[in-house]
Amino acid sequence: MSKRFKPSVVFKDNQVTDEAVYHDRRRLLKSMGFVGASALLSGNAYGQGWFWEREEKPLAQQRPLEFTNNSSFSTNDTLTPESKATTYNNFYEFGMGKDDPVEEAKHFQTDPWQLRIDGLVNKPLTLGYDDLFNQFQLEERAYRLRCVEAWSMVIPWIGFELGQLIRQADPLSSAKYVAFETLYDPDQMPGQKNRFIGGGIDYPYVEGLRLDEAMHPLTLLSVGMYGKTLPPQNGAPIRLVVPWKYGFKSIKSIVRIRLTDKQPPTTWNILAPNEYGFYANVNPSVAHPRWSQASERRITTGGVLNRNRIPTQPFNGYTEVASLYSNMDLTRFY
Ligand code: MTE
Repeated sequence: MSKRFKPSVVFKDNQVTDEAVYHDRRRLLKSMGFVGASALLSGNAYGQGWFWEREEKPLAQQRPLEFTNNSSFSTNDTLTPESKATTYNNFYEFGMGKDDPVEEAKHFQTDPWQLRIDGLVNKPLTLGYDDLFNQFQLEERAYRLRCVEAWSMVIPWIGFELGQLIRQADPLSSAKYVAFETLYDPDQMPGQKNRFIGGGIDYPYVEGLRLDEAMHPLTLLSVGMYGKTLPPQNGAPIRLVVPWKYGFKSIKSIVRIRLTDKQPPTTWNILAPNEYGFYANVNPSVAHPRWSQASERRITTGGVLNRNRIPTQPFNGYTEVASLYSNMDLTRFY
C-alpha cells in the first residue's frame, strides 16, 4: 500500500489502489491463462490484419448531436474532461489495457447497425442506425460512472430512457428480466478473435437487468457524450448506462435486447461468480473479495493518475433506487 494515501483514508490490509486493483483483475485472467501471452503477439496480430489492410479502412467518425438538457437527472459534480473519458477505457473486445480501446477501435464501423428488441414482447422491433438517433427525443444527463476497479468519472451522456424503448416493444406480463448483447464481430474486434487479447471472455459480452431496473427512469441508452455521437471506445453507436451499478453492467455496442422470464447470464458473473454478482449495485460496505469498495479515485482534473480520492456512496449516490431492493439482503445479492 502506498504511504501517499494514509493521511486521507484509513485502509485495511485488503484495501489497495485502483491501479493495483486493475492489475489484480488482470491477474485473475492470468491465473486462467489469458494474460501474458498477448505480450508475445506482434502488433499486427493485435489488429484486424496486416497494417496496409488497416490503413485502407476509414476512421470512425463522430458528429454533433441535437439534444435537450435534462438537469433534473444531472449531477453537479465536476465533469471528467472528454480527453480522459475517451482514452482511459474498459472495452475488452479491443484489448485489456486501458489505452487499447482508443487505438484498436479507431476503425470500428457502426453504420449500418441493427439493434433488435425481442423475446417476451408483443411487438418485436429492429432499430437501424438512424433510428437510434431519431426515434426518441435525446437528452443530456451528467452521471457518475463508478467502475468496480475503484475509479470513477462524471460523464455528460446523451441518450434516451431504456424504458421508452421497452414500452414500444410492449412486454408480455411474463417478462421479468432484460438481457443485453454486444456485437459479435471478430473481424472488427481483435479481442474476440484472439482469447489472449480479449481476456478469455466467452464473447459476445452479455449483461442483464431485472425488468423494474431496466424501466427505472435513470437507466439510459446512450448514443452520445460531450455533445457528439459516442466514439467507438466508449461503446458506439449505442450502449447502456446504469449509474447506480458498477460500470461493467453498462454494456457497450449493443445489438440485441431480449426480454425473458429468467435471470440472464452476465459476462463477469460467468467469469468469476464469487467476485461479480448479477446485481452489482455500488455498495461501499460490501468489499470485493480482493479489495475494498469504500472509496474511489475520481478522475477529474490532473493527470489520469491523479489521487483525488473520495468516499464511495451507496448506489453511487442515486439512493432513489433503494426501494427497488427493499426486501433484499444486498450482501448476498451483490
Ligand atoms: N462492454 C463491453 N461490451 N465490453 C467491455 O469490456 N467493459 C465494462 C463496461 N462495458 C465492457 C463493457 C466496464 S468494466 C466498464 S468500467 C465500462 O464499460 C467502462 O466504460 P467507459 O470505457 O466508457 O468508461
